[in-house]
Amino acid sequence: MKIIGTGSSLPKKIVTNEALSELVDTSDEWIRTRTGIRERHIATEETTTSLAAEAAENALKSAGVAPEELDLIVAATVTSDRIIPMLSCEVQARLGAKKAVAFDIGAACSGFLFALGTANAYLNTGKYQKALVLGAETLSKIIDWTDRSTCVLFGDGAGAVVVTSEEDSLLGMVQGSDGASGMALNCVNRMTDNPFHKAESTTFSYVHMDGPAVYKFAVRTVPKAIQEALAEAGIVADEVDHYILHQANLRILEAVSARLKQPMEKFFTNLERCGNISAASVPILLDEVVRAGKIQKGDIVVLAGFGAGLTWGACVLRW
Ligand code: COA
Repeated sequence: MKIIGTGSSLPKKIVTNEALSELVDTSDEWIRTRTGIRERHIATEETTTSLAAEAAENALKSAGVAPEELDLIVAATVTSDRIIPMLSCEVQARLGAKKAVAFDIGAACSGFLFALGTANAYLNTGKYQKALVLGAETLSKIIDWTDRSTCVLFGDGAGAVVVTSEEDSLLGMVQGSDGASGMALNCVNRMTDNPFHKAESTTFSYVHMDGPAVYKFAVRTVPKAIQEALAEAGIVADEVDHYILHQANLRILEAVSARLKQPMEKFFTNLERCGNISAASVPILLDEVVRAGKIQKGDIVVLAGFGAGLTWGACVLRW
């Protein structure tokens, strides 16, 4: 599998830390020093589908691939606009990618890494040649905008890559899950409420998080996952040119960089402008740095995601 095109899309509306401090008891200083985030994009006119479709069109354009050539569309999201049809099928319809098999996967902030792994497994069967892999979220729909401990962290957006089986640049890939610790970051879906069973509540719930528990999980697990993917690739951390990690918190990135003994200069970030966009954050950041010409052919790139589930994933690519 090789990534041959990238694309992204962010909502027009930007919400600054100052704007949030008018909604809840917080401050720009608290948010910046605890997380590194200054502002985030929030969908007002856009939907998960419109953002994903725009990211997909940009990725297809940069790959020089027509929608009709796609054999597969895998979309990672926890905030599709509808439960059915799935985001991937809505994007398929918008693109006119009639030949593609399309489905969604849910692995929260690791979603893009899991979707990339799924696409790779499909390509390895030999039946599929070209795939579109998406991460797209409008987390603003599932955030409690009166809860200062979560509403300052997240944003909306979509990222996409086009991959082909005609070349191979994947050197190592690992994924993992720890369902037993899952309640540290949770959001209840609608409850069973029918003539046979009355729900305790029919109100939709919002994201709840044990911030310190998730923080500890991330700084312990992500360096380990990256080391495992590097071992599979047969290379060491010093040989990596760029680390593109899920953009949850600058302090988490700094802790990972310290544990791997790698300089922060190797870690790209966009969380200052975007916050945490769950499954979309890795492909959006990847697209931004590729378009800025910051990754050269032959560079070794590590991608890594982590979050709800709990889940984590890392891969090593030769660009
Ligand atoms: N503004 C001001 N104060 C806030 C606040 C906000 N937005 N959010 C929480 N606080 C308060 C808390 O109420 C608490 O006050 P108290 O001591 O009076 O009870 C205090 O700040 C410290 O809270 P705490 O949760 O201990 O802060 P922290 O230093 O652990 O930082 C996070 C909080 C959320 C930034 C941090 O735990 C974190 O980054 N966790 C990982 C979250 C994450 O990335 N999740 C997604 C992974 S995919």
